[in-house]
Formats: sequence, structure tokens, C-alpha cells
Amino acid sequence: MQPEPELPVYPPVFFVKFADSVRRSLAKISKRFTHPNVTMLEYIQNLWLLGAISVSNELGIADILKDGPRTIKELASLTGTLEDPLYRIMRMLASEGIFWESGNMKFSNTKVSESMQEKELKFFIQHTLGSMQFRIFGELMHSVKTGKRTSELFIEKGVFEHIGESPQINELYNRAMTNTSKMQVAAILSSFRFNKFSHIVDVGGGLGFFLTAILSKYRTVKGTLFDLPQVVGDNEKLPDYLNGRLTIEKGSFFDTIPAGGDLYTLKNILHGWSDGDCIRILKNIKKVMLNNGKLMIIEVVVEDMNKPSWGKASDIFMMAGPGGKERTREEFQSILEQSGFRIDEVRRTVSPLSLIVASPE
Ligand SMILES: C[S@@+](CC[C@H](N)C(=O)[O-])C[C@H]1O[C@@H](n2cnc3c(N)ncnc32)[C@H](O)[C@@H]1O
Repeated sequence: MQPEPELPVYPPVFFVKFADSVRRSLAKISKRFTHPNVTMLEYIQNLWLLGAISVSNELGIADILKDGPRTIKELASLTGTLEDPLYRIMRMLASEGIFWESGNMKFSNTKVSESMQEKELKFFIQHTLGSMQFRIFGELMHSVKTGKRTSELFIEKGVFEHIGESPQINELYNRAMTNTSKMQVAAILSSFRFNKFSHIVDVGGGLGFFLTAILSKYRTVKGTLFDLPQVVGDNEKLPDYLNGRLTIEKGSFFDTIPAGGDLYTLKNILHGWSDGDCIRILKNIKKVMLNNGKLMIIEVVVEDMNKPSWGKASDIFMMAGPGGKERTREEFQSILEQSGFRIDEVRRTVSPLSLIVASPE
């Protein structure tokens, strides 16, 4: 279980949105000055770049460089790899500003490579750029021609069943989710006051980073962390600050969900499932929640036509991997209405995630 979480501090939403729109305008101007064929070749080059990122990430180079620069000879010896190919990987990454190369084939971290450290995004990068993902994306046409998840070509059973069968994949997956939760949770907590509620049930809450961050900030709130048995362990020793306020329950949200919460949260859950599966989960929540309770879906809401959005890219990841989808506001409204909920509000956060608060009809 998480020790008391330390969260980053972000600037206000309007400032980040403004900075983002300036950055995107500059990128558009840069594209105007580039021949379209060159733009396309630069997109293609991203495949090779991602291969290089994946290798350096898996070798843990950003963590090795925490204590200062290293020569390629030292890096190769510490990672059990060959100097020449490793140098070519590092040289390419340095040309993109991901590491910094100085004289004598010495490399150091930059702000960007620091994001590959374990305490930042290492496990998420390993999960999203692992060899299985390269195989899946090589066959993406399968989804386009059949409407099914591409991953079924390599993983016959459900994705979570597959994850649960291997302790290594399971550990990597859960740590990957915690990596991104650390970035998202500060944005969520600065957008919403959770002390309006007395008992929050986080459904599919993973290792509990989100829920424990809420309980750490609001000392009167109680929480129930609910996830599959492969994720939440037995007899976990809980940190003192939780002081009996956290209960852990195991099970499947397709069967029953812990009862009695006045807020049910679903963070990054529904995008992994079809509309029919989402409706089953939402109806199961409705059955057990208090009459005056609320539901909060925390997901990307896909933007209108042509607007850039993380959700439009991660939608392809969901289509290929678990066979789910990212949704527009109208699509959320539709699955909520079919499950007996109405939307009260949709609140944007400084991250790509929005908070969709809904009440039972
Ligand atoms: C994308 S992760 C999100 C984890 C966490 N909410 C977060 O935002 O970091 C999906 C979570 O759903 C859980 N999950 C998948 N199938 C489930 C089921 N049938 N019942 C309960 N939890 C499930 C997974 O174990 C995993 O922790």
C-alpha cells in the first residue's frame, strides 16, 4: 500500500490551457515551413525513436545517470549490452534532446530523460512500449477490418485475465498505472473538493494511489479500494495516516461492488470496455450506491473535430489493446442514461482527464 503520497503542484487550468495553445500554434507554424513529405518522414521516424526510447528505458539508463554523467563504456558494462549499438541508440536520443552527449562519448540526463526514472514514468513506458505493443501495432489492420481488439491475435483471453496469469506482467501493469496516477491525481485534487463525501468507493482503484491521496488530504473521509484479487493483496499493512479509514475489497465489478458509498469513482476504467460492458458496471454501481450518492467518472473526454487531444491517440491504444474506446461527452451521456444516471457536471482538469459527475435518476 502507498506511503503518504507526495504530489506535484500544477499551475491553474487556464494557464496550462493557454501555454498549451501557444505551443500548438508554434508547432503549426513550424509545419507550415516544412515540406509535407518531410513532415510525413518525420512522423515515420517516430517508430525508430520509440524503439530507442523503449530500449534505453528498459535498461534503466535514466536511473543510472541520476548520480552524474557516464561514458558509453560504463553504461554498456552496467547494463550488460554492447558499446557500439548502445552508443548509436544514445546518440539518436541525444539528438532529440532526450539525453545529453558531451565529449568522450559521455552521456547525462536531461529534464526529459528524467521522466524515464522509476519514480516517474519508467513502468508506464515499459508497459506501453513493450515488445507486445509493437507486435499488436504491427497488426492494427485487424481491428479496422473486424472491429475487434488487435490484441486477440496474441492474447486469446481477456486482457486482465492475461495480466493476472503472470506475476511479472501483473506487477509491471500495476506499477505503470501508479506512475500515471501520480501525474493525474494532483490535477484531480486541485479541481474538486472530495470532503463533500464521507465514504468514497474507488472501483478498479489499482494499488490505491488515487484513493490514498484523497484520504491523506481529507482526514474525515473514509474509503474503500476495490479491485481484482490479483491487484489488491491479502492482509496489507496500511500506513498509520489512514488510521482505520481505508478498507480493501477484492472482486469483479461485473459481479458485485461494495455497498454504501456516497461517492463511487471510476478512474481510467470505462475506456477499457465496450458500451455494453460499461453499462453492466454502471448498473452494478447504481444497485449499491446510496440514493443521494454520486458517481464520478474520471476519463478523457474526446474533443470536437480536428482539435488535438490525448484522447484521440489513446483511443487507438484502447481499440487495439483491451478493445475499449475513449468517448465524447455525448457517448458518455448515452451510456450513463442507459444505466439510469444523469450528468450533473463535466469539469476539466489541468491534465487531459475530466471529471464527469452524475446522479442516479
Ligand atoms: C486502467 S487501470 C486503472 C487503475 C486506476 N483506477 C488508475 O486510474 O490508475 C484498470 C483497473 O481496472 C481493474 N479491473 C479490471 N477488470 C476488473 C474487474 N472485473 N473488477 C474490478 N477491477 C477490475 C484493473 O485491475 C486495473 O486496476
